[in-house]
Amino acid sequence: MLCLFSLFLFLLSSRGEDAVPTATTVNENGPLLALTFDDGPYPKVTTHILDVLEKHGVCATFFVLGSRVEGREEVLLRMEALGCEIGNHTFSHADLTRLSAEQCKEEIDKTNAEFERALGHPASVVRPPYGFYNAAVRKNVPYPLVLWTVDTNDWRPRNVAELAGAVVREAEDGCVILMHDQQSSTAQAMDAIIPALVAKGFRFVTVSELIAATDGACKAVKMPGGG
Ligand code: NI
Repeated sequence: MLCLFSLFLFLLSSRGEDAVPTATTVNENGPLLALTFDDGPYPKVTTHILDVLEKHGVCATFFVLGSRVEGREEVLLRMEALGCEIGNHTFSHADLTRLSAEQCKEEIDKTNAEFERALGHPASVVRPPYGFYNAAVRKNVPYPLVLWTVDTNDWRPRNVAELAGAVVREAEDGCVILMHDQQSSTAQAMDAIIPALVAKGFRFVTVSELIAATDGACKAVKMPGGG
């Protein structure tokens, strides 16, 4: 009986090892990769993505719209609990290059006020909608402006296998991958993308971690005051 019980415990613990992400899934010396998701949260899609990140013990950065925070605070709290970063994607997805200095600041500040309310702190990175910025935007938005190196065009529904294949193929050291937590095809592709990138040895980092690791020299990031 005792023997059977031990066997049961053994089976239980070995099952647990399979299911729970461990340090072995993180390659400390691997190439760096920052996954980013814009325009959300959309709870159904975002939750699916967070489930995949949690299962594999990896992180991402979510560039959230200030207008989408209210009523979705729990989703944002879960992002942070999983080690993900929340970035500022403006309040209303505005093209910042068409706004006055005052309007530009308001888009950023109103969004950070929502993050303060939901999380207790503002975001420390900004992604300008459409990637549009100019000298005035850089002056009026005193944060690192985060662009991308890989555009997945997943803001429209995509063939899941094709999307997954493209991301895995184009990933390289120091890349910033642009995705959106809006289409269910993106969430479904994550089921294939994350284990494939983990198997390739990538080290998943947040955007701020990537900036720190590259001393601000990341090609997808325009640092405030920089050239
Ligand atoms: Ni966007």
